[in-house]
Amino acid sequence: MSVKSSATLFTTTGPNPIDLIHVNSTTLPDPVGDQLLLRGLVSFLNPADFATILGTYGTIPKPTTLYSKDPAAIVGNDGLFEVVAVGKDAASKFKKGDWVLPNIAAFGTWRSYALVKESSVTLAPKTDDPIVSAAISINPTTAYQMLKAYVDLKPGDWVVQNAANSAVGKAVIQLAHIWGIKTLNIVRDRPNIGELEKELKSIGATVVITDKDVADPKFDSEKLPKLINNGNVRLGFECVGGEEGAYPLKCLSHGGTLVIYGSMTGKPVSLAVGGLIFKDLTIRSYWLTPRLESQPEFKEEAVKAILGYIKSGKFKTTSVQKHIFKINGTEAEQLEAVRAAFKAYSAGFANKKQTIVFE
Ligand SMILES: NC(=O)c1ccc[n+]([C@@H]2O[C@H](COP(=O)([O-])OP(=O)(O)OC[C@H]3O[C@@H](n4cnc5c(N)ncnc54)[C@H](OP(=O)(O)O)[C@@H]3O)[C@@H](O)[C@H]2O)c1
Repeated sequence: MSVKSSATLFTTTGPNPIDLIHVNSTTLPDPVGDQLLLRGLVSFLNPADFATILGTYGTIPKPTTLYSKDPAAIVGNDGLFEVVAVGKDAASKFKKGDWVLPNIAAFGTWRSYALVKESSVTLAPKTDDPIVSAAISINPTTAYQMLKAYVDLKPGDWVVQNAANSAVGKAVIQLAHIWGIKTLNIVRDRPNIGELEKELKSIGATVVITDKDVADPKFDSEKLPKLINNGNVRLGFECVGGEEGAYPLKCLSHGGTLVIYGSMTGKPVSLAVGGLIFKDLTIRSYWLTPRLESQPEFKEEAVKAILGYIKSGKFKTTSVQKHIFKINGTEAEQLEAVRAAFKAYSAGFANKKQTIVFE
């Protein structure tokens, strides 16, 4: 059995990722030895994928000549595959029909089929929906770890975050709610802000405010104490950068900790030194990738807990906007699907995770 694999690739990095991606195909042979042949089910477009093609991300995927004469890297780090054939030496760990998740960085998930070493994947939890199984891996795990790793939060404590409607943000809201922690959620202002506020509150957000609210010079002294009922904002998460990047810091209480874990604008965070000094704040950073290697048990714990919350109806997977990658389609059709995902991502305000579904 040999299969045609189509992959989304990029050969160079630069400021317009949508113009740098292309789709090429190749034929993959049967798996041998410790190899697995995988079929793509679902892949997400995460900010890290975009940053990788911009050339600003912390890991650089290894280019391959499997799909083209010129070395090209395969897009994607977050996705779910089904095992369709198993090499002899991988048969004790995997069987046909298993669902698997990458366990190495820069895996290249945006491909219809992949021939990989069994050590590069781990068994995924099976649920009724591949999107639900796929979506546990990166973003909710990040939220789980950030909530646990820096501050020993107690029920009633507050956490503040920006980009609160991101997949990570919604996971922070839900996990904090389950654990009795209150959340102050900053989102970008928009015409339908009321709808977004309602949605975030329906999954457990305590307070939802906009970047415009926090920009008000009277926000810290007058509005904030009322919003949090003079509570203790002990932890903050920032992933926006620029002026807005300092907004979670503005909301922290004395002795609070800010964790910087992303940069949606790509701009340096402008921190007010006075706030830092007079409130004795601490700044930390978070990156999941090295932690997966140094603390694999933490991911196992997170996935197990989140799966339990999903099964008991306490945790909802982020909403998605699907783009269908036809496995037997032409390369032009496949490119159209992946470019549509990039376009929707770049436009912003979708309030949905751009998702490639392989059919
Ligand atoms: N350090 C780590 O290990 C790690 C792991 C996972 C994720 N992350 C980071 O977590 C963040 C969220 O990731 P995700 O996958 O959850 O995101 P996502 O679901 O794709 O959502 C993107 C979020 O960014 C907001 N956004 C986009 N452009 C913005 C801008 N110019 N200014 C302000 N907000 C903007 C969007 O809000 P709108 O609705 O306003 O567009 C949305 O809330 C990213 O920065 C990502 O890199 C880091």
